[in-house]
Amino acid sequence: MKAVILSGGSGQRLAPLTNTITKQLLPVANKPTLFHILDLIKEETPIKSICVVVSEEYGHKVKETLLNSEHAKYFEFDFVFQDKPLGLAHAVQITNMHMGEEQFLMFLGDILINKGELKAAYEQFIKNKPESLVLVKEVEDPRPYGIAEVTNGKVTKLVEKPQDPKSNLCLSGIYLFNPSIFYAIANIKPSYRGELEITDAVDFLIQQKNTVEYYIIKSWWFDVGTPENMLKGNEVLLNNISNTINSKLNNTVKIQGKVSIDQNVIIEDSEIVGPVIIAKNAHIKGCKIGPYVSLGESVTLKNTKVENSIIRENSRVKNFTRIISNSVLGKNVELALEDNTQAVSGNSKKVKVILGDDTKCTSL
Ligand code: G1P
Repeated sequence: MKAVILSGGSGQRLAPLTNTITKQLLPVANKPTLFHILDLIKEETPIKSICVVVSEEYGHKVKETLLNSEHAKYFEFDFVFQDKPLGLAHAVQITNMHMGEEQFLMFLGDILINKGELKAAYEQFIKNKPESLVLVKEVEDPRPYGIAEVTNGKVTKLVEKPQDPKSNLCLSGIYLFNPSIFYAIANIKPSYRGELEITDAVDFLIQQKNTVEYYIIKSWWFDVGTPENMLKGNEVLLNNISNTINSKLNNTVKIQGKVSIDQNVIIEDSEIVGPVIIAKNAHIKGCKIGPYVSLGESVTLKNTKVENSIIRENSRVKNFTRIISNSVLGKNVELALEDNTQAVSGNSKKVKVILGDDTKCTSL
């Protein structure tokens, strides 16, 4: 079996974070979503060959990142460029040559899912041999998604973004296919949004009397397409980190809960409330960090409080008077307010900031 991972899309809902990088490469718990997906595929399926569909804009960056990663030692990657965003089914269609006659897993590159679910769904697909299997998740409002209507363990109908949903099972963005999906894609027309929908292609299989099964995701699942969901994903992933401290910390540091601290990190006069992950070469002084904070490589924080946030590599925050909360800061951001009388005072207010790479915000 092979896999297709879709790693294109504009990522508009994550702007300005996605003005310089594709959303699948944005780190959650200090690792790109794409890497979390590859870890799952490696741990929970026998798949070793992966076709990554990328956009013209960021495709080369995705290719370079994957080929320079540890994953290139395990997986064999192919890259297919989708020149226009013509839909998920179109993205699958252009991988046809690479997939050949094999069954395959399709995974949207902006999905985070808990361990164990993919394995269970894969085993169901292998055991029952349906034409296709869709992983679904019960949600309160399924209208922004594709939905699966089901009876007696089988999918009876799939509808993309229904106005009046007849089911609360949303399509998670993870599918298992036989090569017959290519025939189905060749037989569907673009939807109202001008895209070839994978939902319509799977529905075509059902209309042709093929068996489509579903697997209900029992644990957490996120589409990390918004900053809010990125932060929820960060939270659940940080809940599972193991306590590892690879830097020498002195007694001016107070640590509570689980922390993952990489090498060469300097922390002085600070309190860390886990779960928190800190990448190498970070420098923290006079701060309160956590819970649920991910700090990238070489981040520098001075006299600052941060909670429930992601701060990417090389960013620097100094004497910030408010608590940075539910925030995402891109790479090389500089935030500095030269009023350290108020910084880290007990009753500072919270502020939410979403800042793209290289943003500079300093007081004059
Ligand atoms: C896509 C699929 C939809 C699915 C969703 C999962 O939606 O078309 O069926 O439920 O991903 O995230 P889109 O992200 O294109 O709106």
